[in-house]
Amino acid sequence: MEAYFDNSATTKPSKEVVETMLKALTIHYGNPSSLHRKGVEVEKLIKASRRQVAKALGVKDEEIIFTSGGTESNNAAILGTIAAQHRRGNKIITSSIEHPSVLNVFKYLETKGYSVVYLDVDRKGKIDLHQLEQEVDENTILLSIMHVNNEVGTIQPIEKIRQILNNSKNKIILHVDAVQSFGKLKMNPSKLGIDLLSISGHKIHGPKGIGALYIRKDLKFTPIIYGGGQEIGIRPGTENVPGILGLGIASAAIEKEIDDGIQKMVQVKERLKAGILSEIKDAIFNGCQGDESAPHILSISFPGIRGEVLLHMLEQDEIYVSTGSACSSKKSSQSHVLKAMGLSEEEIEGAIRFSFSYQNTIEEVDYVLNQLKKHIYDLKKIMMKR
Ligand SMILES: Cc1ncc(COP(=O)(O)O)c(C=O)c1O
Repeated sequence: MEAYFDNSATTKPSKEVVETMLKALTIHYGNPSSLHRKGVEVEKLIKASRRQVAKALGVKDEEIIFTSGGTESNNAAILGTIAAQHRRGNKIITSSIEHPSVLNVFKYLETKGYSVVYLDVDRKGKIDLHQLEQEVDENTILLSIMHVNNEVGTIQPIEKIRQILNNSKNKIILHVDAVQSFGKLKMNPSKLGIDLLSISGHKIHGPKGIGALYIRKDLKFTPIIYGGGQEIGIRPGTENVPGILGLGIASAAIEKEIDDGIQKMVQVKERLKAGILSEIKDAIFNGCQGDESAPHILSISFPGIRGEVLLHMLEQDEIYVSTGSACSSKKSSQSHVLKAMGLSEEEIEGAIRFSFSYQNTIEEVDYVLNQLKKHIYDLKKIMMKR
């Protein structure tokens, strides 16, 4: 049996997405900017895809800009806002547990003279709202925050964050990295007072290398790429048609099936959690649990065990998991998220992330539990002989 429990790293594209992309490559290969029929038909398909993404988010079509993925959406959101708004102030705020596609932009902006604040998080990965209240001032122009953390699944309280920002005299722009929450939590950026929001195709059973940025209508924004007039001049370059159409299909599936999908992920997660609780007594669950946690992420530390060794043992059984995030797990450095949460060296070393999709089954969970129990028992036996 195969159990792919690494859906926060990436998901398997759905059959409908693959079929749509294949058609885009073989039939709809025209350039959407061309004036003839071959181009016009593709332009229409892109329009329909934009509609599908906008509908899934509950926003206007013209507020959706296609990008090359979550990384570009995050970079564009931050740099495009700074470029347009820098005269109003030079203080920008984020958290210490952001994805590198936000953190490294902030580090770069620090070298350019911006006053940068990295909010602390507690043991569960929640940002310190009191610290946010203290830091927000008349010089602050932007807060960039993730909705769901990709390593531990903790949900940040976006509504409360917006309220705090609203108390400032300065109009503070709110960017939300929703790469891990789109399709996993119900949300509506305009209702939450979000100005910019990033999503990515490959986390929602869509293609890799495609994403979108929601930009609130009338927001002052400066492009970071210059070229032709595609994507209303905000993101020029000949469109990634297969990617855009694939993202549209994946978004339409979310719009239709989100309730059912969430229910399936919660079932799988709760079964795995219950099994681990009863079989592996010293396991530690990282991040928030229950309502404050995303339905698809479960991070667990197995004290005395090296997560990487366990990962490779599970891989032999065709069980696929992660130690931290996929982006940081190939580097030898420890997870910046778990470190910021104040976990001990042993807890960080022994951390494994299981991440789910609606495609996972209860049978897979039971198989994983069985193999996990065996490997942990064997690893502990080896440790005791040392
Ligand atoms: C929270 C978060 N933001 C941004 C990204 C980057 O998205 P992409 O892989 O589409 O560049 C990821 C990917 O892992 C992520 O988990």
